[in-house]
Parts: sequence; structure tokens; C-alpha cells
Amino acid sequence: MASLLLINGPNLNLLGSREPGVYGTASLTEVEASLTELATDLSHKLATFQSNAEHEIVDRIQAAQAEKVDFILLNPGAFTHTSIAMRDALLAVSIPFIEIHLSNVFAREDFRHKSYFSDIAAGCLFGLGAYGYELALLAASRQLSEDK
Ligand code: DQA
Repeated sequence: MASLLLINGPNLNLLGSREPGVYGTASLTEVEASLTELATDLSHKLATFQSNAEHEIVDRIQAAQAEKVDFILLNPGAFTHTSIAMRDALLAVSIPFIEIHLSNVFAREDFRHKSYFSDIAAGCLFGLGAYGYELALLAASRQLSEDK
């Protein structure tokens, strides 16, 4: 059994009501519940975390190392395009992670084309809506079984 951590960044607590045409109609609670179920089906343990505060996410990433989290699934929200601090935290803990975006960031404003995470991620998924989270979990699970 592996230990996985799902981290969602700012404004993702508003999923379901926030720009549903861009981000879909599923709430974060629903996304987290279905992902937790999928993790259980795959015999893994999934913890979830959302914060609008950069320092809280940095603290959560640091805590993940002490907790021996094996893999992180991360939608950094707008911090994707700004956060050197979160990038440094992920490099510091050396926990593999997959970067997820509900929307196709490359079909949107130029400022969303730059990510501080993509080049250090194990993989990236964008534009697939909430299904991207499921695919990320499946990919993480496969990678963890290959690493054994
Ligand atoms: C997002 C894309 C980001 O550009 C945006 O700031 C978000 C959500 C996505 O999931 O599509 O908050 O990460």
C-alpha cells in the first residue's frame, strides 16, 4: 500500500461554482471523494489538502516527507505560474508528483503557459477536467508498482 497526497491550490475550493464552463461542475468534495474511492480500489491510501495560502502548501509538502508520502498529485492553481517557493519545497522533499490542470492552460492566456512545476514533474495532465485527477492517480499507481 502506497501513501499518496492530493494537493489543490488557491480557489480550487470553489470547484463546481467557479467558472463551471472552464473548470466543470464537480465540487472539490466530490472530486476528493471519488479519488479517495479509486485509491482504495487500487489498495492505496490517499490524503487530501487544499489551501489558498502558499505558505500552508509549502508546509504541507514539507510535512509529506516526514509522513513518508510516496507520491503527490498536485493542482497548484494560480501558484502554477508564480510559486518558486512551492517548486523549491517539492525539490527539497524529492517526492515524485504529477501536475494536474482541469483546464487546457495552453489554450488560455499567455501567463498561464508558464509553469514552475512541469519540468520537474513526473508527468503533467491538463484540459481533461476532473478526469485528469483520476488519470493522474492511475499513472502514479503504475509508476509506484514499477518502482518496487
Ligand atoms: C488551473 C489553471 C490555473 O491557471 C488557474 O489559475 C487555476 C486552475 C486548472 O486547474 O485549470 O486556478 O490550475
